[in-house]
Amino acid sequence: FSVARRRYEEPEARDGKTAKAFTEQEAWEEQQIRKSMLQLGSTDRGRRGDEYELLFDDGVEFVRSSVMAGTVPDDAEAAMDAKATLQDERKTLPVYKLKDDLLKAIDEYQVLIIVGETGSGKTTQIPQYLHEAGYTAKGKKKVACTQPRRVAAMSVAARVAEEMGVKLGHEVGYSVRFEDCTSDKTVIKYMTDGMLLREFLGEPDLGSYSVVVIDEAHERTLSTDILFGLVKDIARFRPDLKLLISSATLNAEKFSDFFDSAPIFRIPGRRFDVAVHYTKAPEADYIDAAIVTVLQLHVTEPAASGDILLFLTGQEEIETVEEILRQRLRVLGGKVAELVICPIYANLPTELQAKIFEPAPEGARKVVLATNIAETSLTIDGIKYVVDPGFCKVKSYNPRTGMESLLVAPVSKASAEQRAGRSGRTGPGKCFRLYTEYNFLNDLDADTVPEIQRSNLANVVLALKTLGINDLVGFDFMDPPAAESLLKALEELFALGALNSRGELTKTGRRMAEFPLDPMLSKAIVASEKYGCSEEVITIAAMLSAGNAVFYRPKDKQVHADAARRAFHAAGNVGDHVALLNVYNAWRESGYSAQWCRESFVQHRTMRRARDVRGQLVALLERVEIAPCSAAGDLGAVRKAITAGYFRHAARLQRDGSYRAVKSRQTVFVHPSSGVAQAPPRWVVYHELVLTTKEYMRQVTELKPEWLVEIAPHYYERKDVDEPEVKKMTSTATGQEKTTTGATPTKHTPNLNSFFD
Ligand code: CDP
Ligand code: MG
Repeated sequence: FSVARRRYEEPEARDGKTAKAFTEQEAWEEQQIRKSMLQLGSTDRGRRGDEYELLFDDGVEFVRSSVMAGTVPDDAEAAMDAKATLQDERKTLPVYKLKDDLLKAIDEYQVLIIVGETGSGKTTQIPQYLHEAGYTAKGKKKVACTQPRRVAAMSVAARVAEEMGVKLGHEVGYSVRFEDCTSDKTVIKYMTDGMLLREFLGEPDLGSYSVVVIDEAHERTLSTDILFGLVKDIARFRPDLKLLISSATLNAEKFSDFFDSAPIFRIPGRRFDVAVHYTKAPEADYIDAAIVTVLQLHVTEPAASGDILLFLTGQEEIETVEEILRQRLRVLGGKVAELVICPIYANLPTELQAKIFEPAPEGARKVVLATNIAETSLTIDGIKYVVDPGFCKVKSYNPRTGMESLLVAPVSKASAEQRAGRSGRTGPGKCFRLYTEYNFLNDLDADTVPEIQRSNLANVVLALKTLGINDLVGFDFMDPPAAESLLKALEELFALGALNSRGELTKTGRRMAEFPLDPMLSKAIVASEKYGCSEEVITIAAMLSAGNAVFYRPKDKQVHADAARRAFHAAGNVGDHVALLNVYNAWRESGYSAQWCRESFVQHRTMRRARDVRGQLVALLERVEIAPCSAAGDLGAVRKAITAGYFRHAARLQRDGSYRAVKSRQTVFVHPSSGVAQAPPRWVVYHELVLTTKEYMRQVTELKPEWLVEIAPHYYERKDVDEPEVKKMTSTATGQEKTTTGATPTKHTPNLNSFFD
């Protein structure tokens, strides 16, 4: 690169010394400055008095002073040094130069749109600036900063606590669903957008906040979009409240228009050139192509040149790739440099989150396997190569059938550009797109459709109704959802008994809204009062909310793992919900033992989380005045309560072994990981649909068809549940047919293991 300015003489020449005459101190300084230059992408350096100065070829200059100020650190000084460096790092972020201007603009305007390249310091720095400027001092008001993803909220809070030298949960905390890490002291609160939405329910004017930062606004998640309408509304009668809408995309006019022409504050970013490479022909198997590309890069490019970031679609895929990479690296053995594999996805356990930010040891390289989360929410320093297969998981919703599913779909052009940009933060980068340039130009959509236009809206409609917002069509949406989706949500809430026929919130609806869960699951909990099994249903709800990774299935012990898993199914094998209940109860009887988990092939981490979640559900039960009660082994009662929430997810077995959803008539299959896959019952309710090779029902429980009419008479009629088809089934249901059914889904599954994470 060319150097923009060279205002200072070469350090080698200063004081007439040559490089050879360097003292130990100076050698260390030299090493530090070179490291900083490399890290920051500086193209030249200079010296002013006792300070070194780094120069950049776009003319931006940054001063790093205290790195050079000290002497060679020994162990005792290392800790202090780390703290000083952290403060220095803060000053190198692009937003730092604009701190005063930014604060002035915030002071002047009530609503400000802030736009800046990812990694410019918006998320970590701006709340600190507000804190330093006194926004948290008077009357002890707080600064809220929302994030679309829980991992981002948690890791950013941890980082900011570290920068401020405070304990996480004290001055700086976070709040995500089922986990509140804040205290009375907390003044900077990072939280998921969904949590701020829930705070509206308790505090409709957000009176305890002086500033609300809606961060990552470009992500346009469902909760963020609803927040836009709500905060715009409260800003009118709370002139003391400051609103910051922060986004990584340059197209901020849309936000400005929505917020009555609010001014846009731009943080000029520095982004280096990124060379984009495409594949010559489309890849048949993008996972394999991704693995090969990562290994090729690792082998051909020196480890010191930089780390690799690979975008994948979800936890299952990440774990599969991690395993294959480990195998192949084992084969390569000592012939190549060490490759440290760092996975990052939404449910990554807290204790592993910090690891992704740690630099690889000397001589090794890091490969980060990430979901969309690394696209803009999290910035990992040191990335030089991005591998982009071009896919992500998107939620899609069919308002006609009311079916919501997660599917793997091509990313948008905007996403692809963001992904590529991750390689050019600290120096020129390289991006390897595992698709053709033709695909990029002609097949990718320009932007991702906002989530509000492809989601089931039952949850937000329930929240809005609880807030007393009855005119949903008149709600101030940035992009309104389809009228059909709103209608469907109202219908669903009506079917669940949360709304009456006039669309007004019922007592059931009010109670359901207290639970931070999907309305169907909340309804099952509320219904458990009637069936006398609240203890069991909240256990099941906690297990369902703790994540899909309850069981594990090591390659070399699959037979044992499968046997252990089967043992949790009740006699008669009535379904997965009861199995989850049995797992939890058995674990509780073991004294919540980790040893027991190992022996039972159950993930201890998931169980611990389930226990936390359950504790919170117990408190919420008390709030809605449902007494804890147990059905004492009456599994019928438990299944009825589940059905009371999930009756819309009822499906009937077909002769070919598939199922058909009773109302929507959609063809669905039992997920191969389900305990009922081997002997499919005629009628089932399922928790959710996942689309992999087919539409699979995950967490399936047997039900009696007459329950549907009994529990949801307004939804099912007799004719829905007794058709001749059923009777025919009775006479032809043979053992052979059942085995075929069990085997069918697995045949299409390339890697069965990925289902058992
Ligand atoms: O929000 P924005 O993308 O503008 O930047 P940021 O998230 O505030 O990141 C600023 C810097 O903090 C980056 O260099 C990150 O690598 C660093 N950071 C970190 O080291 N650890 C975290 N948990 C979060 C950010
Ligand atoms: Mg950010």
